[in-house]
This record gives sequence, structure tokens and C-alpha cells, in this order.
Amino acid sequence: MISAKGVSLRYKDGTLALKDVTMEIKPGELVFLTGPSGSGKTSFLKLLMGMEYPTTGTLTVIGQLITKEEVKNIRKLRKSIGPIYQEFKLIDGRTSLDNVMMGMRFLDIPSKKIKKIAEEAIERVHLEQKKNTLVENLSWGQSQRVAIARAVARKPALILADEPTGNLDYENAINILQLLYSFVDSNTAVIITTHATHLIQNVPHATCIEVEEGKLRIIKGEARVDETRT
Ligand SMILES: Nc1ncnc2c1ncn2[C@@H]1O[C@H](COP(=O)(O)OP(=O)(O)OP(=O)(O)O)[C@@H](O)[C@H]1O
Ligand SMILES: [Mg+2]
Repeated sequence: MISAKGVSLRYKDGTLALKDVTMEIKPGELVFLTGPSGSGKTSFLKLLMGMEYPTTGTLTVIGQLITKEEVKNIRKLRKSIGPIYQEFKLIDGRTSLDNVMMGMRFLDIPSKKIKKIAEEAIERVHLEQKKNTLVENLSWGQSQRVAIARAVARKPALILADEPTGNLDYENAINILQLLYSFVDSNTAVIITTHATHLIQNVPHATCIEVEEGKLRIIKGEARVDETRT
């Protein structure tokens, strides 16, 4: 599903955010990316979404090569990816339900169906009571649930959640993580970045990857990361 070979990412200002990443992630995997602030977690997710391109190396995501030249095809690839951003990126002035529906507007789904699918997604995240509430009036955790509903409504093959438990207390953080695990199946991989290493230690079948100064190091699990290269 994801194959990276010698991938590095240097931003325009010269910052080397990822260094020679070689790894593979298969469908059905649950992957945690941990590591200190500024280590490169969000940068890695940006590459997977084609929001940035590798400076060196080869990256394919669901069979799609991530390069500048492939920008049109990458737009199509994004239909198969459900991103949950660190800062949510919900649209103020719109309700929870509207936000979930807007996440599906580029898919070829008839509008009646879109509403039904969005309502099901809202139910899946247990937010039925807030579906007609403007998103600016939601709590942090509720906003997070809308962002998750928006990401999963279109049944993406790859779910990317950036720091989804950020501000939550222990119980709510566990609930959000369990909700995200529930979307892993044989066709779907879920990648979650988190600072909360204490929350993920006992998750069975999960792959844990530590990001440190742009390098990826596997701590446990099934994904393959080649650490021998430098
Ligand atoms: N657009 C950008 N231009 C230049 N440098 C950037 C850009 N985005 C991120 N960086 C830098 O790249 C490095 C990795 O940042 P990144 O956001 O990937 O870290 P992170 O692991 O997600 O951190 P956090 O846990 O705080 O979210 C940092 O040094 C950051 O300052
Ligand atoms: Mg980040």
C-alpha cells in the first residue's frame, strides 16, 4: 500500500524534514508514528497525501507514484485517502453534517446518497446529537469526531490521522484511538501520529515507528523499515 525507498524531504527553506526513509506498509496494518515535536511526523503524512513531494527517493502510495509530474493522478489518489489533520480544517459557519458532506463533494456520488452516507458516518462517531450544530460551537473532542467522520465517510483505503488525541483526557483519547482502530480491515490501513506513547503500548497487532530527526525506526510490529541505510 505504501512503499518508500530512500525518501528524503527538504523544504524550500533548506530544512531536511525526512532523511532516507525506506519502509513498506501493507493493507490491514495499524501504524503509530511517535516521536518528539518537529521530528517529521506531519511531514511524512504530507508526503503520503502528495501535499509534498520527495526531494530524493521513490514513494508510491496505493500504486501511485508521488512526484510533481503526477499531480493530476495524485488528485485522484486523494479520493482513496481519508486525512484527519492536526488542526482539523473544519469549515466554520457550517454544521457537522455539512462538513462531512463537503468531504465527499469531489466523489462521483449522487447528492441524496451523500447525505445518507454522511449521516451514517456521524452516527459511527457518536455525534448524532450535534449533527446540526455549527462546528465552531463544538468542543475540541467533538470537532475531532467530525474530522474523523469526514475522513472515513468515503471509505478510504488509507486513513491518516495526525495527532488525533492531542488535547483529550485519557478516557476520551482511548475512545478516539479505538474508534480509529475500528476502521482497520483487510483493505484499509490506518496511520496515526501521536505523542501519547503510553496510550499505544498495549495495542495488539499495531506497528510502532519512532520518528527522530527525520529518521524512521521501527519499535515493534509488521511494517518493514530499513534502518541499515543512512
Ligand atoms: N512548510 C515547511 N517549511 C519549512 N520547514 C518545515 C515546514 N513544515 C515543517 N517544517 C519543519 O520540518 C520539521 C518537521 O516538522 P513536522 O511538522 O513534520 O514535525 P512533527 O513531528 O509533525 O511535529 P509535531 O509533533 O510538533 O506536530 C520541523 O523542523 C519543522 O520546523
Ligand atoms: Mg505534526
